Amino acid sequence: MKALLHLNKYFLQYKYRLFIGLLITVLSNILAVKVPPFIRKSLDVVDAYHKGSITDLATVKTILLHNIFWIVLLALASGIFTFFMRQMLIVMSRLIEFDLKNEIYIQYQKLSASFYKRNRTGDLMNRITEDVNKVRMYLGPSIMYSMNMVVLFVVTIYNMFRIDWHLTIYTLLPLPILSVTIFVLSKMINDRSRIVQENLSKLTAFTQEMFSGIGVLKAYALETAIQDEFETLTQENKVKNIHLYQTQALFFPMMILMIGMSNILVIYIGGMQYIEGKMTLGVIAEFIIYINMLTWPVATLGWVTAIIQQAEASQKRINAFLLETPDIINDYPHPEIPYPTEIKGKIAFKNVSYQYEDKEDLALQNVSFEIGAGKTLAIMGRTGSGKSTIAALLTRMYDVIAGQIEIDDIPIRDMNLTTLRAHIGVVPQDAFLFSDTIENNLRIGNENATMDEIIAVAKRAALHDTIMSFSDGYQTLIGERGVTLSGGQKQRMAIARALLKNPKILILDDSLSALDTQTESEILEFLRALSPRHNVIIISHRISSVQHADKILVLEQGKILQEGTHQELLQKEGYYRYLFDEQIQKND
Ligand SMILES: Nc1ncnc2c1ncn2[C@@H]1O[C@H](COP(=O)(O)OP(=O)(O)O)[C@@H](O)[C@H]1O
Ligand SMILES: [Mg+2]
Repeated sequence: MKALLHLNKYFLQYKYRLFIGLLITVLSNILAVKVPPFIRKSLDVVDAYHKGSITDLATVKTILLHNIFWIVLLALASGIFTFFMRQMLIVMSRLIEFDLKNEIYIQYQKLSASFYKRNRTGDLMNRITEDVNKVRMYLGPSIMYSMNMVVLFVVTIYNMFRIDWHLTIYTLLPLPILSVTIFVLSKMINDRSRIVQENLSKLTAFTQEMFSGIGVLKAYALETAIQDEFETLTQENKVKNIHLYQTQALFFPMMILMIGMSNILVIYIGGMQYIEGKMTLGVIAEFIIYINMLTWPVATLGWVTAIIQQAEASQKRINAFLLETPDIINDYPHPEIPYPTEIKGKIAFKNVSYQYEDKEDLALQNVSFEIGAGKTLAIMGRTGSGKSTIAALLTRMYDVIAGQIEIDDIPIRDMNLTTLRAHIGVVPQDAFLFSDTIENNLRIGNENATMDEIIAVAKRAALHDTIMSFSDGYQTLIGERGVTLSGGQKQRMAIARALLKNPKILILDDSLSALDTQTESEILEFLRALSPRHNVIIISHRISSVQHADKILVLEQGKILQEGTHQELLQKEGYYRYLFDEQIQKND
């Protein structure tokens, strides 16, 4: 029960609701328990008339009408209270569910890139949906039924003992067996539904991937093979479901069997005593009603126990994520003061090394370079040489393991993280576009941009004409249910998005690779015009993209191999000259 303690703060938050819920539960049960005595009295008066101890039929009828009136009134009142009990307690669980989901989501957004590398998306999703759902079952139904059960037990059994404690003992005998049986059954049902659920996720993931890759499947004529795989999965699904329903089907028969046993005991023992004249018919009827009132709560006891166990497991998983501390934290001591409000753009890497968690080799090793404000830096090198890592470290997606990165001579760790990222615009290697309109996708760069500003950056990124060729223009939907953009169009979208942010430092990570030379040079020309007000960092394989940079770095296996301007590097033997010769020859 330790993990669930985390939720106590929410109970405290909704303490009035919880308290009123409890009060209503007590009232509703007290009223409900007042009904059976009227039934006893009714039967007893009929029996008395039958035996001849009452002779006036009119009196009997009056008493019966009086009893009926009370039975209806009490049942009605109890029903109304039950309604409000649910309103209070189940609604409370929904409110907490909302709070908890938001608590988890806020935490998710704080956690850094390395957390997302360690955990699968499916798991992250499950925490915030499935697991929260399990926890809500504890917060709502399980709390409500537990309260209800305790209250009902106390009032009912108090009543029963008052009337006939002997008979009460017999009546209650089968109830523990019922509770244990239901517990075992609930556990089995829960286990099996978990298996069904897991199986279903597998099936969904499989189908989703096959739909995404339908083009490949058709091109390689893999339909039959995939169909077989699908059938195996659905077959498994069917078997697991049948398994589940077999257990579920046992639930009600078991309950009815147990109620039946209690009823038989009451009728047999009560009947014997009636014959001996120690008991009235009414008491037997009253007891039968009590048994039926108690059965459901006792059954829920088993069910509730199983729910709590599941909620405990789920909350444990949720807590594991909530307790993670983000590795990249805003160390800046005064987050309310954006500091520095402006940056000029001098960038310095001082003996920077970095190693990814699951890698043996260093991704960057002792890298040092410097570039003044308003200058253009180009980074070249083979795939895996560490180019993207430089960009990631500059935006503090990861923190260096050795050395220091400075902007305007301030270590970036001492800067306000939000300010730092606000001033840097990254066009990533694989631009991600949301399933939304073109306008909204660009707007990510700057929510408050005017339409004119959006059109201006689209023109800068050589994208405006393409957008206008779509029938809905800037309102065209892209992604899943919309237009599919080509690689080059996606890259230009990402460039326009970053430009809209108007960052002091603009990083283009291999973002021109899918563009034709004409478009590339148009964009490059614009980028050159950005200096000296902005720093531009261009990561690329193409000489044409980097040749005008103020400084070119050539990386190899995380180390700086060459450094200089285009002209300087051409003078020397090395990777840059080799690349130049190769690419110029290609163009000839
Ligand atoms: N997220 C990551 N997790 C683990 N290793 C990574 C990750 N990103 C890059 N690497 C590794 O770090 C090295 C440098 O990668 P990267 O900076 O992406 O190179 P480049 O951008 O030059 O292709 C490579 O060996 C790569 O496999
Ligand atoms: Mg890269």
